[in-house]
Amino acid sequence: MKPIFLVGYMGCGKTTMGRSLSKFLKLDFIDLDLFIEARFRRSVKEIFAEKGEDGFRRIEYNVLREVGEFENVIVACGGGTPCYFDNMEYMNSRGYTVFLNASHEALLRRLSIPTAKAKRPIIADKTNEELSQFITEAMKLRAPFYSKASLHFDSSYLEDVTQVAESTKKLAFLLAE
Ligand code: S3P
Repeated sequence: MKPIFLVGYMGCGKTTMGRSLSKFLKLDFIDLDLFIEARFRRSVKEIFAEKGEDGFRRIEYNVLREVGEFENVIVACGGGTPCYFDNMEYMNSRGYTVFLNASHEALLRRLSIPTAKAKRPIIADKTNEELSQFITEAMKLRAPFYSKASLHFDSSYLEDVTQVAESTKKLAFLLAE
């Protein structure tokens, strides 16, 4: 089976849905950020600090092309992955792409948790008010890229195990269509 790429803004549930869907469909799971961190033995935060965002995007580009060669795998991309270079076209040419689209309220709720914020260098220093504004602006810029995904799925409801299980079944059903 061709790879399934999950795309969408930070906090939209790519990792949560990716893990859950991979168990449900008996596929391997790769979180692109964790793959990069294991490869470079540095956190995303450290890579941003050492190489700048441009350096991180180049690494992300290369690693995406590496995992894009795999079969039977679900790849949770970083929030920015589809928005740089021709990454979105690449993913569409290699496999299935799913845009996990969560409401602004859900994104803000998930990203304002201090640990969620701290590990994401792009938002680490923002107050919750600034974060809310930042999400609105970023989504305007990024939506055109996310929208190129072949399937769009509402991932606003992932707040407990029951909701995750429900969403997983719904998405698995849509992917099978
Ligand atoms: C980023 C999202 C992060 C990570 C990096 C940059 C972004 O991934 O790749 O901090 O530009 O939106 P998550 O979407 O998994 O948080």
